Amino acid sequence: MEKKIALIRGDYASPEFVAQAVRVLDRIAEKYGHTFTYTEVDMGGAAIDKYGEPLPEAELAKCLASDSVLLGSVGGPKWDDVAADKRPERGLLGLRSGMKLFSNNRPSKVWPQLAEASPLKSSIVEKGIDFVVIRELTGGIYFGEHKTETVTAADGASEQAATDVMYYTEHEIERIGRVGFETAMKRRKKLCSVDKANVLDTSKLWRKVMHRLAEEYPEVEYSDMLVDNCAMQICKDPSQFDVLVTENMFGDILSDEASEIVGSIGMACSSSLGETTCGVYEPIHGSAPDIAGEDKVNPIATILSAAMMLRYSFDMAAEADAIEQAVNAVLDDGLRTADIMSEGCTLVGCKAMGDAILAKL
Ligand code: IPM
Ligand code: MG
Repeated sequence: MEKKIALIRGDYASPEFVAQAVRVLDRIAEKYGHTFTYTEVDMGGAAIDKYGEPLPEAELAKCLASDSVLLGSVGGPKWDDVAADKRPERGLLGLRSGMKLFSNNRPSKVWPQLAEASPLKSSIVEKGIDFVVIRELTGGIYFGEHKTETVTAADGASEQAATDVMYYTEHEIERIGRVGFETAMKRRKKLCSVDKANVLDTSKLWRKVMHRLAEEYPEVEYSDMLVDNCAMQICKDPSQFDVLVTENMFGDILSDEASEIVGSIGMACSSSLGETTCGVYEPIHGSAPDIAGEDKVNPIATILSAAMMLRYSFDMAAEADAIEQAVNAVLDDGLRTADIMSEGCTLVGCKAMGDAILAKL
C-alpha cells in the first residue's frame, strides 16, 4: 500500500523521538512492501518561529491532504511570552478542530516488565490495568468562548474577570458516546461515562444522551461516574475499568492520571479521529525541554502511536502487532530509557532504544 503521512516533528526534544518513529515506519514499509511518503508540516513553536503563527492554513491543508498525521509534541518555555491566541498549544487545538477530530483514544495498559515503575502499590497493579479513555476532543470548555474583561468590584474599583464557556450539543455528545459504546463492544463490553451531573448542565445533558444510547447497546455493561470519584477510583482500583468516555477537559485530566499509573507517560500513545480514517497520532507527553538535545527521551510513546496509525487508519494490523511485539521484546531484554529505568536494567538513550526496536523488527 501507498500512504502519505504528514509529519510534525515538533519542538525541543520532539524531533529526537519522532525520528525514531519514522525509522520504525520505514522498516515496516520495507518489510511488508508498503510505500510511506512524508510531508513535513510546521506546527507549534516551529511554525511561530517561521511564520509568526502556530498553524498557518497551508500547513493545516497539508495535514488534510494526507492519509494521516504523525505528531511529536509542541511548545516549551521559548514561547511562554507569546500572546495566548498565538501559543503553540493553539496550533494543536487548531489542528484537532480543523481536521474535525472529535474522538481521542488514550489507552492505559500496564506492561508487565514496567509494573514496578507504577506509583501504585503492587497489590493494586497486580489486579491488572487495561483500559482506554475516550476523550471528546473538539468541544466543551476548550472551544467555548474565552474572554477576560474589566469589571467594577463592590468597592467601586475595577478588577479583571474571566469567562470560559462549556458548551455541548446533543449531536456532539451522541457521536462521542457512540465511539465509547463501539470501543467497548470490541473489548470487554464495559463502558463508564464520566461527568459532573450533580453540578453541570452540560453533564446532565451528557448523561441523558448516554442513557438513550445505552438502550441501543444492551450487551454493554454501562455505568455513570462523577469525575471526582473517577479520579479517585483510577488510583484505588483501576482494574474495574474497560472503557471510559468523557468530555474534553475531564478527559485531559484523567488521561494524564491514567498514563502515569502504568509506569510512565513516556509510554503513552494516542489516536485522534473524526468521521474519516485520516487521524492524528501523537504521544500524550510533552516536548521535554529540560532534556532536549541530550538523546535521553523515551521514543516508545511515539513509536506506539505510529503503530496505532497503522492499525486504525491504514488497516495494517499485522504491521502494528509487529511494532508492539518489538517494543515488548526490548523491554524483555531489560533496555530502559531514563524515565522507566529500574535496578538491574540497562540504561539507553533515545536513539539506542530506536536501534533496539529496529533490530527486533
Ligand atoms: C493534551 C494536552 C493538550 C490538551 C494541551 C497541550 C493543549 O494537554 O493533549 O492532553 O490540553 O489537550
Ligand atoms: Mg493533557
